[in-house]
Amino acid sequence: MNKVYIYKRFERFWHWSQASLMLFLAISGFEIHDTIHLFGFKKAVEFHRVASISLIVLIIFAIFWHLAFDEWRQYIPTQKYLIAQVRFYLFGMFKGEKHPTKKTALQKLNPLQRLIYLAFKLFMIPVVVISGLLYMFDKTIDANEVVVITNLILEQLRSGTHLGLFY
Ligand code: HEM
Repeated sequence: MNKVYIYKRFERFWHWSQASLMLFLAISGFEIHDTIHLFGFKKAVEFHRVASISLIVLIIFAIFWHLAFDEWRQYIPTQKYLIAQVRFYLFGMFKGEKHPTKKTALQKLNPLQRLIYLAFKLFMIPVVVISGLLYMFDKTIDANEVVVITNLILEQLRSGTHLGLFY
């Protein structure tokens, strides 16, 4: 019997690279924030920058891939079987019930995954990337290497979103 892969090679590469980069960004980010101590502040800033640029490059490739192969359609939300899926995760799976939806190459995601991944792509990722880029490019450092905050509202917005999302 032939093995059929539901997730294509690029998709698997993208999934695992994105998950590892996000995890590494969280670890280095919390080192920068002084919550954990692993590589030291300076190295953490360097690592965080390299990982964030890698993530942006990966996201750009993933956007092209989704458009080129029409894979964005996988995320169109549907209410069909949505309640059944929620019920399954809350109770059914613990009672050994059958999965309410079936995965195929044309329908890889169940209705709950569609909703959650769509929110992740349209909300969480843009917020973390845009606030991170604001952190990177919109700050003034004085002669004593102290960050000078010129726009308090923008500062609140970027630290509130970049950091706030993960608390
Ligand atoms: C493309 C994505 C990202 C970019 C461009 C970015 C950029 C930055 C920058 C520039 C800083 C300030 C340190 C510095 O000047 O180098 C920072 C801090 C931080 N980042 Fe990110 N980052 C990204 C993704 C993430 C992700 C995915 C997480 C967590 C899951 C994260 C968590 C943090 C945390 C906790 C801090 C410390 C903030 C503070 O103490 O005020 N970042 N990030």
